[in-house]
Amino acid sequence: MMMKVFVAAALAVATLAASVQGQAPAPSPAGLPKYPLMQPALPYPYSAQEPLIDNTTQMLHWSKHLATYYENVNKAIMPFPALQVLTVEQMMPAAGTSAVPMNISKAVRNNAGGVYNHLLFFKILMPATAATNASNNSMLPQQVGQAINQTFGNYTVFKKNFTEAALSVFGSGWAWLTVAKNGSLAIETTPNQDNPLMVGAGYSGNQPILGIDVWEHAYYLKRQNRRPEYIMAWWYVVNWPQVNMNYMAATSGNKTMITSYASS
Ligand SMILES: [Fe+2]
Repeated sequence: MMMKVFVAAALAVATLAASVQGQAPAPSPAGLPKYPLMQPALPYPYSAQEPLIDNTTQMLHWSKHLATYYENVNKAIMPFPALQVLTVEQMMPAAGTSAVPMNISKAVRNNAGGVYNHLLFFKILMPATAATNASNNSMLPQQVGQAINQTFGNYTVFKKNFTEAALSVFGSGWAWLTVAKNGSLAIETTPNQDNPLMVGAGYSGNQPILGIDVWEHAYYLKRQNRRPEYIMAWWYVVNWPQVNMNYMAATSGNKTMITSYASS
């Protein structure tokens, strides 16, 4: 009886995920255990964004905060084998809804959300070299640059609007650049570890391609309460070629690569 409940829950999650994305879940996870979810290797050293984002913050953020989200989501779904065939991406649409067993609904929302969000956050960062600091943001890659111009008018307006959105998040949360199903861009914010993919929790269902973590753990050691200073520094280490690849993936339907890492 209990197993039937678990299977039904997993099917509901997978079905909802598929219907939200307008396509079947990625073929590779179908029926194959993904458990436990494994944290990949960070493709650059913790010091890569120094001095804009400090080594200790990045070390704690990746090796402690993100590791804890992995630990907690794995613990939550441990009694639910049918959920273990899902990728973290596939958990997003139904996270926090009754499609996930009620006793782990909150844990999946917070911790699977935390895993997804941080994989995107760290993937769109680049080393803070003198060259990138000098040129970053001045020449956006063609496709995402055109989309930004079409939606916001120009990069300066986009940066201003996105910064204001990130500053407006009350307490802990995120600001996102997302792609809607029609290919247009939007700026969105979410509290806690929610993200726009959590359509079951009332969000847009748009695909995030760029995100900034404005939890204090992302900047407090170096910046204390100065969130504006952190956001200004973060712009210099945004990996626009990667954001462009995310945009191309989002508009072509190949969304799994957005949070995939070479070691995963
Ligand atoms: Fe974080």
